Amino acid sequence: MKIITIVGARPQIIKAAALSRVITNQFHDIEEIIVHTGQHYDQNMSDVFFSELAIPKPQINLKVGSSSHGAQTALMIEKIEKVLESNSPDAVVVYGDTNSTLATAIAASKLHIPIVHIEAGLRSFNKKMPEEVNRILCDHVSTLLFSPTKSGFNNLLSEGFLNNYSNNASLDQPNIYHCGDVMYDNSLYFSKLSNQRSNILEKLKLNEEKFILATVHRNDNTDSVIKLTDLFSTFLEITQIHQLKIILPLHPRTSKMMEQLLDPKLLKNIQESNMLIIVEPTGFLDMIALEKNAELIITDSGGVQKEAYFFKKPCIILRPQTEWVEIVETKSAVISDTNSKTILEATETFLSNTELNFPPVFGNGDAASFIAKEMLNQFS
Ligand code: UD1
Ligand code: UDP
Repeated sequence: MKIITIVGARPQIIKAAALSRVITNQFHDIEEIIVHTGQHYDQNMSDVFFSELAIPKPQINLKVGSSSHGAQTALMIEKIEKVLESNSPDAVVVYGDTNSTLATAIAASKLHIPIVHIEAGLRSFNKKMPEEVNRILCDHVSTLLFSPTKSGFNNLLSEGFLNNYSNNASLDQPNIYHCGDVMYDNSLYFSKLSNQRSNILEKLKLNEEKFILATVHRNDNTDSVIKLTDLFSTFLEITQIHQLKIILPLHPRTSKMMEQLLDPKLLKNIQESNMLIIVEPTGFLDMIALEKNAELIITDSGGVQKEAYFFKKPCIILRPQTEWVEIVETKSAVISDTNSKTILEATETFLSNTELNFPPVFGNGDAASFIAKEMLNQFS
């Protein structure tokens, strides 16, 4: 059986590691061709993950790069269509909700190539998020939809998908599954490796020091002068109030927007702060080390909020809503958007409350082998 896996953005490369690993180790009847759209292209947003997570190097890189949503997606569709036509895979695998996912969904569905959507069913119920549009459209042209959570599975049922398992699923008769999260598989697997290989705590002199980890990249936050200013002013305030460092591996999008939008005085304060530590985007093993050792995680990332939960850390979510509703229901995470008061109060609460619960809601760490087995069942 031949599959083409299409990745493009950082989190998709990381997610792809789980399936590629089980294919290499257990499912020798599956031939996987990895195609990179080139949506992310900096060394520390792309290559680093292939090398440190032992993912087979992409056989094809479409080098699409950055542009507006329409231009980027259109160029991807054109190039992905050619790749699919010349390789005739039995199925194409996509992850999550990026423009690379949407472009693949459009190209593959028109060619009648079955789409396997990993991370199906997640909804924020905010269609102003480009990701919400991407994942809804992709789900509705997929043949196998693997949801990491029960709530994601239920969202698919509410949108009219039937829970009627077919041995011969198709575009008009798709199968939906609740199978656990490949990101959880990865966090379990790479956690040990991170202990052995990451030296980021030494590098940042954090071995003996408590700290907070933060990430910011969501377009809603980076592209608004008000939100970006609120966020960075609040970060500086937290470091002062709690005398704790905030480590912030900075997404290139945020870095560019800070230069463009922030008041030069605030920018200078940030640059000169020895408590708000901005670093380049890190590799995954370093990121795990930071997550496991942080007191608290403050983020607008989908993946990082879940990893906070996997490593039993409280999390403040810098978004107006989350598709990972379970982590908020267990009260180990709080939604703050960019509201300074809510962020400050939640920081205070989480730093003094160590009695948090993290019941298992993301599966057993075997989502990728479930998916590989089912693909073989359906397509070989
Ligand atoms: C994309 C995804 C988002 C995901 C995020 C993961 C879409 C619509 N958004 O957002 O869902 O959470 O990836 O990180 O697909 N840039 C660089 N170097 C790079 C990549 C990007 O400098 O290697 C800069 C460019 O200025 C670019 C900007 O970041 O214009 C945004 O990149 P883009 O891929 O369009 O969106 P992300 O914000 O990264
Ligand atoms: N990540 C990383 N280095 C960083 C920031 C994030 O390795 O500097 C990892 C993080 O651990 C998670 C994934 O990237 O696995 C999340 O990607 P991102 O936040 O870019 O996107 P999202 O999950 O919001 O789509």
